[in-house]
Amino acid sequence: MKNTNIIYHAASVTRERRNQLNNHKSVVIWFTGLSGSGKSTLAHSVEEVLFSKGCKTYVLDGDNVRHGLTSNLGFSNEDRKENIRRIGEVTKLMMEAGLIVMTAFISPFREDRIAVRNLISDGDFIEIYCKASLETCEARDLKGLYKRARLGEIKNYTGINSPYEIPDNPELIIDIDKESLEESVSKIVSFLQTKSIVR
Ligand code: ADX
Repeated sequence: MKNTNIIYHAASVTRERRNQLNNHKSVVIWFTGLSGSGKSTLAHSVEEVLFSKGCKTYVLDGDNVRHGLTSNLGFSNEDRKENIRRIGEVTKLMMEAGLIVMTAFISPFREDRIAVRNLISDGDFIEIYCKASLETCEARDLKGLYKRARLGEIKNYTGINSPYEIPDNPELIIDIDKESLEESVSKIVSFLQTKSIVR
């Protein structure tokens, strides 16, 4: 049931004031790509660099968020949509709280990613496509799930029997098959510096 009797309370400690205090801008950095494309590794590595610069950061990661906030959801198209919608709302709140929030979810559907982009203020949603071939991800198969999907034990597995829609206009593309982790991390940090998000 939708609650229509809600009065929005304006905060006097605003995002702008928090950003000033923190000495960096708060944004959402949204990593998207196949399972095993390196989203989590990249997000946590970027976080290390930003944290050591004194930035306020947080990483929301597929595998741990799905144990809590979205534990009632599976991998049907509708459930993935709701997964991304909820995470989008949470990232918005965390951004308002002054954090550089990074997310590592497959987020396979263009429409769902665009919906989150539209939720976030202009320029504050940075979509990073972790481009890795299915062959690379499947060869790694860190959790053994690709193998199980091939055996027909897992339905709707992204890349095998559920689609991944490549982003049209991501702010950055990381070529996982070609770049080293260090190169990718410095590319992302440089981007943030160029946009005056961090120093
Ligand atoms: S998303 O599609 O809703 O964005 P999310 O990133 O939260 O997915 O979860 C992906 C992780 O869940 C994968 O890395 C994998 O470990 C696991 N997983 C389990 N079942 C599936 C499935 N059917 N498709 C993709 N990933 C799955």
